[in-house]
Amino acid sequence: MASCLCYLCAHPDCKAKLLKEIDEVVGDDQIRWEHLSQMPYLDWCIKETMRLVPPAVGFMRQARGPQLLGKKWRIDAGMPVIVNAAWSSERKWDPKRGRVWFAYIPFAVGPRACIGREFTVVEQKVTMVTLFQHFDFQRPKEVQVPEGYKTVRQAEAKSLGVGCGGVKPEYLHILRFVYVYFMLGAAEISPGKAEPEICPRSVPLAQLAVPEDLECQKGPHAAVWSNVKKSFRALLEDTPGALFNPIPEAQVKTAVDQAIAQVKAAGGFDSSSTNECGYGKLALQLLSVCLVSDPFAVAQTVQSAGEAFASPVLTLLLDIPWVATALSGWPLFGLLAQVSLRKADVLKDMVDQESIDGVSKGSTYFNAMRGAMPSSDLSAMADATLTYLNNPDPTGDGGVLGALTALATQAAVQSNVQERLNLINGLQEAMKKAVHTSQDLDLMLATRWPLWSLIHFTVDAISVG
Ligand code: HEM
Repeated sequence: MASCLCYLCAHPDCKAKLLKEIDEVVGDDQIRWEHLSQMPYLDWCIKETMRLVPPAVGFMRQARGPQLLGKKWRIDAGMPVIVNAAWSSERKWDPKRGRVWFAYIPFAVGPRACIGREFTVVEQKVTMVTLFQHFDFQRPKEVQVPEGYKTVRQAEAKSLGVGCGGVKPEYLHILRFVYVYFMLGAAEISPGKAEPEICPRSVPLAQLAVPEDLECQKGPHAAVWSNVKKSFRALLEDTPGALFNPIPEAQVKTAVDQAIAQVKAAGGFDSSSTNECGYGKLALQLLSVCLVSDPFAVAQTVQSAGEAFASPVLTLLLDIPWVATALSGWPLFGLLAQVSLRKADVLKDMVDQESIDGVSKGSTYFNAMRGAMPSSDLSAMADATLTYLNNPDPTGDGGVLGALTALATQAAVQSNVQERLNLINGLQEAMKKAVHTSQDLDLMLATRWPLWSLIHFTVDAISVG
């Protein structure tokens, strides 16, 4: 909480926003339970602080089998590993930043994660509100942060034998554990000695039957497509809330225009490049359809774009293993999620949304999932799913879409890699049963369930960007 106050003092605009929210929601009253869910900004400030300066700096795990992290860093079976809890690749404190599962880990993840994680966030919120109801906090004028200040400077880190440059072998012998800096770069050990068995990033692409150069790694324009891929990933990752909310049209347009210009300038659309980079071209088409505004065309996004679009989208969903697509690094499910969010937005007053979603107004599961979308609150979704699965509402909580969303949520919060892969395969099988034609796909993309966002979240966790 002290760190959060420091950050707020360093960002007076954020502090003003927070104070306004507290004034509007709680005012001078005693804070009550129902106030908590009405203060998203407070939630973001607290969680963004724990992202950068987690009170528990790390946690220890023992590798169950040999792993090759990021295709580079070898971890032997049984090796104790300290995981740095700080997600520090993004240094800027920005409450509106979305949190990424497995990168945001102040409470650890998995079966031994903190059991007090919900409680402590409530505790922090109550304390922060009470503090601000009685006090203001300001940074003393004499406290000046030196230019480029860091808590541990690189030279100091090196003298300790840790850091991006690697861990000195003698320290490995002495300490018998490795500091893995997931975000800053990891301890680099001689790569590739043991064939990795567990880490999904190491599954050879060839085994997953991806058609030749679908993922744009070999053709003459591989470099330009790789830039486009990076820019599309950045669009999804850097736009606050983009996981469950539509990205503003202007940003989408800029990304599409820049990608087209780059590929065109390099000759990547020439007739000689027809068979090059299927995923890249599909990604470009998916993002472009987010710009269509004619409601009739939006209602039939896949069908109106024609067979040349419908067929690759159906192939992607039904024929190519989702894990293979994830490994290509193309965030195609994230783009499908954007198409779906856009469709639901454009069509909201024009179609019978409830029958598309298979819900009635009082559907508790659906309402809980929708309620968690604006703040991308995955743990609220996980809780709602658990309640729904333990206690299904017979009056109708979404039919096929509700069931698929529940499956996708379970996959999204599954921390065991093998279990997650099984759930992804199960989801794809379920999708095959539900979608056969471009009409089916259009309907499924028009849903307001956060299905596609959850699929993206689940699948993209194993992508190689
Ligand atoms: C901001 C406050 C907190 C942070 C950052 C935090 C962080 C953590 C972390 C990282 C772990 C995993 C340790 C490991 O796996 O080695 C953990 C475990 C645990 N935490 Fe917290 N915690 C906090 C507050 C709380 C509170 C308030 C409670 C109790 C009400 C609590 C109870 C526990 C328990 C019992 C475990 C062990 C769980 C197990 O091993 O199964 N924590 N905590």
